[in-house]
Parts: sequence; C-alpha cells; structure tokens
Amino acid sequence: MAISEEDIQKVREASDLVAIVGERTVVRQRGRDFWCCCPFHNEKTPSCKIDPSTQLWHCFGCGEGGDVFGFIMKSEDLNFPDAVRYLAERAHIDIVETGRASMPSSLKARLREVCALTEEFYHAQLMRGKSPEADAARAYLGGRGLGGDVPKKWMLGFAPGRQSLVRFLSSKGFKPDEMIAANVAVQRDGGRLNDRFYNRIMFPIHNPQGECIAFGGRVVGRGEPKYLNSQETPLFHKSSVLYGLDKAKNAMVATGIAIIVEGYTDVIALHESGICNVVATLGTALTIQHVRLISRHASKRIVYLFDGDAAGQRAADRALGFIDEEMTPEAGKSRIELCAVTLPDDLDPADFVAQRGADALRTYVDDAKPLIAYGIDRRLAAHDLGSAEGRTRALSDALSVLAPIKSSMLAKDYAIQLAGRLQMREQDVLDALAATRPPRTYEQRENESPVAREQYSAQVGLSQSELSRRKFERRTLSLFAQNPAYALAHADVLAQTEWHDSLHAVIAERMLSMLERNPQATAAAIVADAALVDSRAAGVLTSGSIGSFGSLESEGAFLADELAIGDMEASLASMRAQLSPSIPLDETEREIMFQAAVDLQKTINARRAAHKLDPFQ
Ligand code: CTP
Ligand code: MN
Repeated sequence: MAISEEDIQKVREASDLVAIVGERTVVRQRGRDFWCCCPFHNEKTPSCKIDPSTQLWHCFGCGEGGDVFGFIMKSEDLNFPDAVRYLAERAHIDIVETGRASMPSSLKARLREVCALTEEFYHAQLMRGKSPEADAARAYLGGRGLGGDVPKKWMLGFAPGRQSLVRFLSSKGFKPDEMIAANVAVQRDGGRLNDRFYNRIMFPIHNPQGECIAFGGRVVGRGEPKYLNSQETPLFHKSSVLYGLDKAKNAMVATGIAIIVEGYTDVIALHESGICNVVATLGTALTIQHVRLISRHASKRIVYLFDGDAAGQRAADRALGFIDEEMTPEAGKSRIELCAVTLPDDLDPADFVAQRGADALRTYVDDAKPLIAYGIDRRLAAHDLGSAEGRTRALSDALSVLAPIKSSMLAKDYAIQLAGRLQMREQDVLDALAATRPPRTYEQRENESPVAREQYSAQVGLSQSELSRRKFERRTLSLFAQNPAYALAHADVLAQTEWHDSLHAVIAERMLSMLERNPQATAAAIVADAALVDSRAAGVLTSGSIGSFGSLESEGAFLADELAIGDMEASLASMRAQLSPSIPLDETEREIMFQAAVDLQKTINARRAAHKLDPFQ
C-alpha cells in the first residue's frame, strides 16, 4: 500500500499551501508571505505564517508548523498516506498504489458538470424567461449597455430561485450533496434543499480553460448584498481565480500586458470596447497567485486600474502591501512589472469607457506608474506640501511605502527623488529612510510571542546563554531546511556542529542524509522527512526565515559563526577544566594543553571581534 515518492512529489506540486489553508480560514497577504489565525489553537490575531515559496507554514503562537501534508494531517486528522490521498483527490491526480485499487477522482468532474448545466440553465432563463423578474433583469442589463449579444458572449444568466435550479439538476440525475458541494444549492438544518441564488443576474466564472467553476450573482438594480458569489468549493479557490481570464489570455499574450479592474461589469465593458487584455479579481485583493497566473500569459506588465471612488482608493492602499524586496532589480529575477493608476472623477472603468471612449482609457493605462512610484505619489497627495510640517509628515508617510525595500538601491533612488520634491537635503532623507522601521519580521513576532517564549524557556533549568545557543541552533536548522541549496553548500555546518539539543542533532543528521540521497530535495520534502522521525521537527524547521540580516548569505554566515564560536568556547571550557590543579596531569601534557587553550582563546577572541552582533539580541 505504498505510494511512490514520485506520486507524493506530484501531489505536493499540485497542492498550493496558501490555497489549501485559505479554504479553511481567512488568509491575508503581507509582503511575500501570508498570515492567518492559527487553525490549531484559539487566537484573535494572526500568528500563523505561510511562506508560498517554500510551501511551509509555522505558527509563532503555538510553535506548530510543517509542509502541506503536515497541515492536512493535523486539520483533517489523517495519517501521512491518507493526507497524500486526500490532496491527490483534491488535485485530480490518480496515484498508483501497490496493493490497493485507486479511486478515480470523479467528484470534481461531477461538480464541473453541475456548474456547466447551471450556467446553461441560468442563461436560458435570462434569454427566454417569461416572468416579470426575468423581464426586469433583461431591461436592467440593456439599460447598462450590456444587452445585444453581450449576454450570449459572456453566458450571463438569471437565477429565478424558488427551487427551479434544484429541480432542474435533480432531473439531470444530480444528488443534493453534489449541488451543495458545487455551492449552487443550500440546505439549512436538514430543511428543504434550496437554490443558492435567487432573483439575481448571474455572471458565470470560468477557469482559464473556459470551464464554469463558480458564479457571481448581482441584484437586479439596487439592493444588498450587491453581489453574492460562490463560496470556496473543490473547484473554486477565489484567491487564485480571475474573472475573464479565459477570454483575456490571448490578448495578454499578444500585448504582454494585463489590465486588472475591480468589477465583473468593468471586464465586460472593456472587452466590448475593444480592450481585451482585462480581468478582475473576485472582490478580493490581488494575491501572489493572481500575479503568477497572469505572468503565464502577460510577460511585461500588470496594470492595476483602480476605481476613482473611495472603495477604489482603499483597494489601492491594500495593493501597496504588495511592495517587497522581490520587486527590486537587485532581486535579480526578471519579474513582471506591477503598475497602478487611479481613474479620475469617481469613475469606474465601465463608466470611463462609456463616457470617454477606449482610446482615453488606453492613455491612462499607458501612463500607469510602477507601484512604488504610485504609492509614493498617493502618500504625498494626502499632505499639504506648502508647509514645512506638511512636508515632514509627507516624508515619513512616503518613506513607509519604501520600508519593505529600504536597503535596496531602488529605495535610495526614490528617496533622493523625494528629497527633491520635498525640498530637503538628500542625506537627511537617506538617513530618515535608514531609520524607517521595516515591516515586522518573523523574528520580531517570535520574540513577542509569549507562547513561543514560554515553550522554549520551559526547558527549565537552562541558563540564558544555553537558551540562546539553542535558539541559534533552531534558526540555523530552519534556515537550512528552507534553503536546501544553501544547506548543501554548507553541509559542513550540519555535520560539524555540536548540537546542544538532542532533537536538533537528530534533525541535522536526517537533513544531511536526505541531501546526500537527493541533492534536489525541496524545503517541503526536507521538513516532511524530518517530521517522520520526530513530529516536533516540523515546528522547529519552519520556525524561522531570513529575518534579522536581510539576506540568506549574511544570516547564514552569522549563524554558522555563532555556532562555531560557541563550540570553540565549549571545548575551551573543557580544556580549562582539565587544567585545574585538582586533576592529575603530566607536566608536558599540561604544557601542551595550556598552549592549546591559549591559542584557542586567541582564535575565539579574533572570531568574536570580527563577528557581527545579532540585531535581535
Ligand atoms: N463584490 C462582491 N460583493 C459585493 C460587492 C462587490 O463580491 N457585495 C465584488 C464583485 O466581484 C464586484 C467587485 O467586487 O464585481 C467590484 O465591486 P463594484 O465596483 O461594487 O461592482 P461592479 O462589478 O462594478 O458592479 P456594478 O458596476 O454593477 O455596480
Ligand atoms: Mn461598477
């Protein structure tokens, strides 16, 4: 009943941790990482971090952590193979199991059929429905310029409600469970099965292949909530879906540019006006999954087009959270450029093209600024630059945009431009930039998390220096696990360190043999492997990321140094103990050891002098 290593890897690659956690709890993006309230203990503020690049999670509140399988094991209460099976099913992957018939993953196929039939049913209701409500829906769309062949092209629909969809799907052989799982029907407390959407204009949401996977339902005219969207289903993960992508992808490839707007109606209006490289998020902030998805089609730029109203301005502020180190040229990767522009006069993109035409909109899109420049402009605009006080406040506000990338050349460049605009001395602005607090990193969170602190000082009787030694060990192991290539290059640290915590020794050993067997091992695979010998390993290995030193190399070098010096100090201490007069020792031996101790002390002093101080100590 074994599952092959390859299949496990396949399932791992198909299972995005951010999406999977997001199906269970609210996940918010902060810079490159995602945070949520820990699903495994009770908390009000998020202390569980999900790193999309390593696909690892860690809760700084309770110390738990691991890879995607570990997460499913805990949240669904499954053992490892069952967690793999569970995620295989979800990802539509047939895994080969020796001695066990594999289940075809038919659930998703059924749900796709439910969505496809629902889409057709709603569309037919809009096109041919006889009720006054259907008349009103048609009139409403027509009045907004969404009549003619628009409903057909976008498969717009009308949901009459009153169990009409449930009856229709039943007649096609679908079971209540399937309708509920596709979130087109709901059942309250064992009561009647009801249509989820009632008297709404329906916007089917498609995956990039054009299959219907969910719906957005708008009230006809005014009313609350304006939109009712499908909840997360096995087919539909809101934070990684873009409305209109199936229709926009060719134009994105052709132009290299993607335009992101906020509303379904904006997407349709722009496409209809001839601007076809347009998609919308589903009422959520842009996420890194969205950016990845888009960059598969558009190679040059993403232009985020914000509505001119207050909600659009809030969305613009949220988008600034997207600024992180990876956007700087130093990051070295050829990343897609993220730009932003706000429309004038309270207009949304649909109103704008209706009033001023497609060419005027194209001009705006062409003038979009890089997100960082856009953010700075937004902050400056909020202050009175005519007064010295206003300029000072504007400066600190604008610098906070640069905080996440403060040590980059790019940030310094922007700071110098800022000095010019605020009539300040360049050096003063650069100093202010250097003094800006970077956003909170994991280290700060770890230091402020009472549970974690308690957990580790619960290693009772340990001295302060012993506790900090163990913390360095933990940081080293977790930095290595999360950066396997770096670990491979510095395997000597793993092999030579005298681990003070026996769990750490086991982990180091295990990591070394894993890297020997498979030099390509991913972070997630290393963590999962170590967790097999001791489940606590997952928590340790996910507990850190590059924090205090900003770069992998400098942090790694600091930690390696710290451990090496610590080990030297320990051997010096044992030499001293042997040199004590109470221990009988031959005179020459004593002389040799004494000299060795003196040399070691010198080495230690030199290493200590060259050794940087940990900013968090
Ligand atoms: N949205 C939502 N739920 C709401 C309001 C909005 O999910 N109660 C999402 C929808 O995806 C919507 C987007 O946020 O398309 C933008 O909202 P808004 O600008 O209010 O809607 P429009 O799509 O522009 O709709 P309309 O122009 O018809 O008002
Ligand atoms: Mn709108």
